[in-house]
Amino acid sequence: MSQPIHPLDPITASEIATLKAILAEAGIEGPQIRYSYVMLREPDRATLRTWTPGAPVPREIGVLVTDKAANAAREMVVDIPGRRIVHDRVLDPATDGWGPILDEDYVAAEEIAKADPDYRAAMERRGITDLDRVRCAPLSAGVFGHADEVGRRMIRVLSFLDQEGTHAMFAHPIEGVVAHVDLTEGRVLRLVDTGYPSIPAESGDYLDPAIAGAPRTDMKPLRITQPEGASFTIRDHVLEWQNWKVRIGFNGREGLTLHDIAFNDRGRMRPILNRASISEMVVPYGEPQPTHDWQNYFDAGEYQFGRLANSLVLGCDCLGKIHYLDATVVDDFCQPVVIPNAVCIHEEDFGTLWKHTDFMTGQGTVRRQRRLVISFFVTVGNYDYGFYWYFYLDGRIELECKATGIVFTSGHPGGDYDYATLMAPGLGAPIHQHMFSARLDVAIDGDRCHVDELDVARLPMGPENPLGNAFTRTVTRLRTEAQAQRDADNAVGRVWRIASSEAKNRVGEPTAYVLLPEGQPGLLAAEDASIRKRAGFATRHLWVTRHDRDQMWAAGYTPNQHPGGAGLPAYAAADRDIDGQDIVIWHSFGLTHFPRPEDWPVMPVDYAGFKLRPEGFFDRNPTLDVPEDPNGRDHSSRCCG
Ligand code: CU
Repeated sequence: MSQPIHPLDPITASEIATLKAILAEAGIEGPQIRYSYVMLREPDRATLRTWTPGAPVPREIGVLVTDKAANAAREMVVDIPGRRIVHDRVLDPATDGWGPILDEDYVAAEEIAKADPDYRAAMERRGITDLDRVRCAPLSAGVFGHADEVGRRMIRVLSFLDQEGTHAMFAHPIEGVVAHVDLTEGRVLRLVDTGYPSIPAESGDYLDPAIAGAPRTDMKPLRITQPEGASFTIRDHVLEWQNWKVRIGFNGREGLTLHDIAFNDRGRMRPILNRASISEMVVPYGEPQPTHDWQNYFDAGEYQFGRLANSLVLGCDCLGKIHYLDATVVDDFCQPVVIPNAVCIHEEDFGTLWKHTDFMTGQGTVRRQRRLVISFFVTVGNYDYGFYWYFYLDGRIELECKATGIVFTSGHPGGDYDYATLMAPGLGAPIHQHMFSARLDVAIDGDRCHVDELDVARLPMGPENPLGNAFTRTVTRLRTEAQAQRDADNAVGRVWRIASSEAKNRVGEPTAYVLLPEGQPGLLAAEDASIRKRAGFATRHLWVTRHDRDQMWAAGYTPNQHPGGAGLPAYAAADRDIDGQDIVIWHSFGLTHFPRPEDWPVMPVDYAGFKLRPEGFFDRNPTLDVPEDPNGRDHSSRCCG
């Protein structure tokens, strides 16, 4: 589609061309200009709510413009139909940081490092004279008090020996060498060489039969067939399935975005979420050696992981009838790039939905659960991440993040070492976390909502509890943004109830959903660590903020080389009232990854996520109308629910 027909439609190639032309008319063009974070600035609530199909479509596109020659960046918003710039702010790199790493920086980092005499000497000390066999990983620099880095676009480089000439370079980390590369001036600002002598030699080629073994021959085909097709429909980005309605979006920063999520409750469309996405993720490493103590990657803000979405033409792990959506992202030169089959949509059987056998009559009843899956996969360097949104028949919503690919590696001297796992002879994998921030713009039966923290509570014996069996749940209203910075606590079964401040269910209680966190550790770095300031969002499992059209980024708009404090800590600093207001829930969660030998040479998927479960949203089990056996009589092999 060349022109959007709805205000939330993903940006089109023609709009991207218009954006570039409008900027060029303002004098912003030329070989030194780069364009990042090119994405829709979604309309404000009032505009969206009053817009009607067929009316002119309001469209603003945000862009971060970097002028490489001037070593300067500015954030801009352009009104596309109005053909005018509506926002223009010059960034101060010392306080605002820089835009994300550019595609060309990957190449530049390697070329700059390899041209540096000290780097070459460090390689020669390790017996490496053929630099064509060395691969440089371009890693976001962070902020560590180096005064000489302020105002420069920096990147730090760790190196690997491409021993086999395949995809398996991570088996051969060239430990002890870090090039601190100044991209602005194209030189190595500082080279660290700890003198670590050896390079692990064993191949980590997971496709090499000598390592993988002969493929097993006893796996019989397992086919999912849907002879009448799938149960969902999709038209103009709107997906409908089993009472659910979801609008699909995509941008180069967050990847998949879901909008206007609503449930058809016996003929009444009831809103649940205005918008859901992964706002940011950060991968902080816990290894204190100078080669690794700076490793922290913001995969959305620093690497624009939406642009790194896999084309599932090349492999999709879903079975059954699949519907794919292409995504249009924008490269550093403001050219549209289509990722074919970036988003996968399918439905899955999910075992028992509900079941009962009446012990008086012997009658057994069972209904099967299904879920709708909307997913995409990204590859960020060594790691691959899948993001799977699940919608269930009974109103549940889940996000499952899958982490796979290859763990980041280091040299390991052997023996006890607290900060890296010995994966193979001489090969370490530093401990690290993968911390995600889900931004959930909630709308439980409308925009005005409130959040209660629910903890289980034991009660003392007494006149009201004579046998001591009583226990209950405490309910604490989170009234302001400062009060609503909360940690999970599995010891008290802590959940957060997000309720409508207007609608009630048939027993007179506010209609609600509950956020069930996994309760895994938050950011573990020390209190005064740089990453704690830069990834403040990950220090708390829950944040609640007032809705603001431009408060989209858990770690701020430009986390690359940002000194910290941006994003959620800044948004919540206003300490606005959140009780009965238009609010956004931000949930931080993740994996604390102590790598296992089993994660080598390629890592089986590990999972992190959360659940949203209706709690008093419906008046009763909303799945009583699910038919007994939609599979019909050919489901002959059934043995159990
Ligand atoms: Cu990991």
